[in-house]
Amino acid sequence: MASTVGDLSFFSQKVVEWYNSNKRDLPWRGTKDPYAIWVSEIILQQTRVAQGYDYFVRFMRRFPDLASLASASEDEVLAHWQGLGYYSRARNLHKAAVSMQGVFPATYEGVRALAGVGDYTAAAICSLAYDMPYAVVDGNVFRVLSRYFGIDVPIDTVAGKRYFAALAQRLIDVRRPALYNQAIMDFGALQCTPHAPACASCTLADGCMAKNGGTVDALPMKSHKTVKTTRYFSYLLAWIGSCICLHKRTENDIWKNLYEFPLIETCQEIDMAGVISSAVSNGMLVPEETPTVRLLQRGVKHVLSHQVIYANFYELALPGNSRSFGAFLQVEHGVLSGYAMPRLLTAFLDRAGGLKGSPLEQCP
Ligand code: ADE
Repeated sequence: MASTVGDLSFFSQKVVEWYNSNKRDLPWRGTKDPYAIWVSEIILQQTRVAQGYDYFVRFMRRFPDLASLASASEDEVLAHWQGLGYYSRARNLHKAAVSMQGVFPATYEGVRALAGVGDYTAAAICSLAYDMPYAVVDGNVFRVLSRYFGIDVPIDTVAGKRYFAALAQRLIDVRRPALYNQAIMDFGALQCTPHAPACASCTLADGCMAKNGGTVDALPMKSHKTVKTTRYFSYLLAWIGSCICLHKRTENDIWKNLYEFPLIETCQEIDMAGVISSAVSNGMLVPEETPTVRLLQRGVKHVLSHQVIYANFYELALPGNSRSFGAFLQVEHGVLSGYAMPRLLTAFLDRAGGLKGSPLEQCP
């Protein structure tokens, strides 16, 4: 049962007081530049502060303002995003920068209409940059509010989202929305953490319904877990002489516009013979050419928000005059780092210690 919501201003005041002595020193704080705040909020959408920090600094060094981002190529923006994941954020950032024609929107509606900006991000940008009274509602806010006010309405339902959004909006300190929003985010990130929250030292412990009722670990409530689909990828590190084959993913699927090795996707795992026959039947491999093949890594698990991928990596070597993989880019292996790739592939390359050259060329 949700509790009645008591003295709202007490809660807001305590959170701000806590923030004033515990706040994190972060590079996007201390600016009112909506561009910088937008970039930081997009980076932080699915990335923890500790990981996003360096990306933000590097991104702002290369794209310090709207004009520099709008005039860059999407490939370069993606290359600066490499390793952060959720690449649609980078594509939307670039698309939105181009769409703004040099002027960052000054209204909530204008900000909310930008590609990649939802309710949370629009509230964050407008409150932090323009001091508009829009309450942020993210995972931190769900957690803090559900625990303090003892709310067991599931947060992954439309009704739950509405309930928390309305409560958050009643709680925001309209005299200082930027301060209040930052405060509740940090309070959730540092004090009222998902696991082992620091209740013993919490300034809000006395009035916390979850603390007093022993439900801290049970809140926030979820109605069900996201269903994940399973996919099986066989990647072919196909060498044509000293070049490696790549292609750009252009379909409406994960990793759009990133580069990858030739891929065979199946609905269950296949072995090396299956990979070769699939490569022949889908036209990657010319039937009369017989490459040397070896399995490099097997069963690499890669978890995304809605999918689990199991990947096997094979190496295939063909001579420089091969007619196989004709539809693919052929890239000298030394310049591969110039192509933005999904983390599944960069992590594979890291584990393999990079690509040292075609196995055929390494033969004595
Ligand atoms: N998470 C998302 N936005 C944030 C911000 N502005 N500061 C700290 N953590 C955040």
